[in-house]
Amino acid sequence: MADPSTLPQHIAIVMDGNGRWAMQRGKPRSYGHQAGSDALKRTIEAAMRRHIPILTVFAFSCENWRRPRNEVRKLLDLFLKALNKEVRELDEHGVRINFIGDRSMFNQTLREGMAQAEQRTCNNTALQLNVAVNYSGRTDIVAAARRIAAAAATGNLAADDLTEERLNEELTLAHLPPPDLFIRTGGEKRLSNFLLWQIAYTELHFSDVLWPDFGADALAAALADFAGRERRFGGLSQVRSA
Ligand code: IPE
Ligand code: IPE
Ligand code: MG
Repeated sequence: MADPSTLPQHIAIVMDGNGRWAMQRGKPRSYGHQAGSDALKRTIEAAMRRHIPILTVFAFSCENWRRPRNEVRKLLDLFLKALNKEVRELDEHGVRINFIGDRSMFNQTLREGMAQAEQRTCNNTALQLNVAVNYSGRTDIVAAARRIAAAAATGNLAADDLTEERLNEELTLAHLPPPDLFIRTGGEKRLSNFLLWQIAYTELHFSDVLWPDFGADALAAALADFAGRERRFGGLSQVRSA
């Protein structure tokens, strides 16, 4: 395990900027998504070299269905291609893959590919990779609230027994520590409905690097930024409490 005082145990990444990267080169947006998939591979390798145990990446949001059909189709094709092409190598490197988000919108081929990738890698321990597809933080919270409401309706939960811990149990990633570091590439300074509950005390790092250019150097910059943060969780700093 990495040293929790200076190295994040869990990094969440909004991989943004693929389209702009492609436009800058006079290419279609899908060219940027392809390059983005290579950047993810590089970033996984770099994270493993740094002994980061958990990565959670935003690949497709519930809101991304609003994009032109052609772009959505190309993104999902690319996703399937990456599943077929990369899973074996990730498995050989000890990566455990898990998908988060609502899969019911995807076709059977994609759903089977996802289930197979999870199954094949389920005993790996070098790095836990969570890929968020058709995920949104609010949807996650609403799904949790629905299960809680159902438990209450059947008399299995009293209102007073609903605690943060109990709600957390119903949310995605409940079995993992929350992200220590949130990285968003592409220059926009917003969360875009990625993990909301889970990042209540996460350190935020916004990078102007477009996702296809991300890799070991940009990760090093984010880690250096993180190492300089003082996490107080509502308490006082060492200096001020003296
Ligand atoms: C992120 O890059 C990838 C997805 C949202 C799927 P974008 O496609 O949002 O790239 P920009 O922000 O338009 O440059
Ligand atoms: C966030 O990027 C979603 C992913 C990276 C998958 P977007 O490009 O969709 O976010 P907005 O539209 O700029 O907020
Ligand atoms: Mg974008």
